[in-house]
Amino acid sequence: MIATIAWTGSAIRILDQTRLPEAEIYLDLDDLDGLCEAILNLRIRGAPAIGIAGIYGVALMALHAAEGSWQGAAADPERRFLQSAQRIREIRPTAVNLAWAVDRAVDCFTAARSRGASLKDAAAAVLTAARELHAADLDASRAMGKAGAVLLKQGSRVLTHCNTGGLATGGLGTALAVVFEAARRGKAPCVYVAETRPLLQGARLTAWELLREGIEATVVVDGARAWLMANEGLDLVLVGADRIAANGDTANKIGTLGGAVAAARYGVDFYVVAPFSTFDLNLPSGAEIPVEQRSADEVRCLGGKYVTPKTAPVWNPAFDVTPAELIKGWITEHGILQPPFDGGLRQL
Ligand code: MRU
Repeated sequence: MIATIAWTGSAIRILDQTRLPEAEIYLDLDDLDGLCEAILNLRIRGAPAIGIAGIYGVALMALHAAEGSWQGAAADPERRFLQSAQRIREIRPTAVNLAWAVDRAVDCFTAARSRGASLKDAAAAVLTAARELHAADLDASRAMGKAGAVLLKQGSRVLTHCNTGGLATGGLGTALAVVFEAARRGKAPCVYVAETRPLLQGARLTAWELLREGIEATVVVDGARAWLMANEGLDLVLVGADRIAANGDTANKIGTLGGAVAAARYGVDFYVVAPFSTFDLNLPSGAEIPVEQRSADEVRCLGGKYVTPKTAPVWNPAFDVTPAELIKGWITEHGILQPPFDGGLRQL
C-alpha cells in the first residue's frame, strides 16, 4: 500500500507524483489554489485518486467556510464554498470520479445545512464522507484484485498502460491491484509496462510500484506493444479507466486504444479494471465522454528539454476511448461484468 493521499487534520497530504521515481516528497495542501494546481499538474493523478483528492478538497473548503480561514475575505462563506467546490470539480473533465466525488460532498454539506447543522457540523459531515469514500476505495481495490487474479495463470505475461496502482487510487490500485493479488497468490506475473508518453506514468510510476513489490517489470515504449504481441506473445492486457459509458466504451490514458487494437489483431484478451465510481451510466456511449486536451509543451518537452522545434504544432489529448467491442470484460469490485451493466451499478 502507498500513502498516496491522507487528511492531516488541517490539510490534504499527497505524495508528489511529478517527483517520482527520483524523490518521495510529500506536500501538504491547505488552500484551493494549491489543491487545484496539484490536480491540474498531476502531482496527484489517476481517476480514483483525484476523486478522493476532490472530496477531501471540498471538506477543506467546508472547514474554511466554518472557520473563516479563507485566503482573503469571504462575505458569504456558503457561496464561496459552492464556488470553490465547482472549481475543483472542473479541473480535469474526463475522469468522472472527480465530479462524482465533489457532487457527493456538496450534497452532504447542503443536506446537513438544510437539517439546521452549523457550518462546523456540516464541515465535519463532509470530512466523514471523505474518509468513508477513501476507505471504500481501498475495499474496492481489494475486491477488484481478487476478482481479476483468477484470470492470471502461473507466470502470466501481462501488458499494462499508464499507472493504475496505489498512486492512482486511495493506495492500492485497479489493474495493478489484480497483478499484486496474483503475485500474493504466488503466480509470479511478468508485467510489460508501456511507458505512456507524454508524461511517462508507466515508465516512472508503474515500474516503480512493481519493482518495489518485487514483481518482474519490463518497460516498453508505447510503439513496441504491437511488436511485443506479434513476437513474444502475451496472455493478457489489463488497463484502468477514467470513465466508462453505459455501453462499455471506456476512456483511459491516451494509447489505450492502440493497445486494444493490437490486442484484437493478435488475439490477446483485453480487460478494463475499474471501480463503480468510474462508471457513468448517464452517458449512453463513449462519443459523449469529454476528452481533456493538455498543453503542447507536454509533448514538445522531455526531461525538461525540447525534443521538437519549440513552436511545433501539437495535438495532445490526454485520453482516448476504446470501443466496448474490443474489451473482453470489466473487472469491478462486484466481479467481472459485461454491458449492459445491471441495476447494481445504478444503486450507487
Ligand atoms: O492523466 P492521468 O495520469 O490521471 O491518467 C490516469 C489514467 O488514465 C489511469 O489509467 C486511470 O485513471 C485509471 S487509474 C486507476
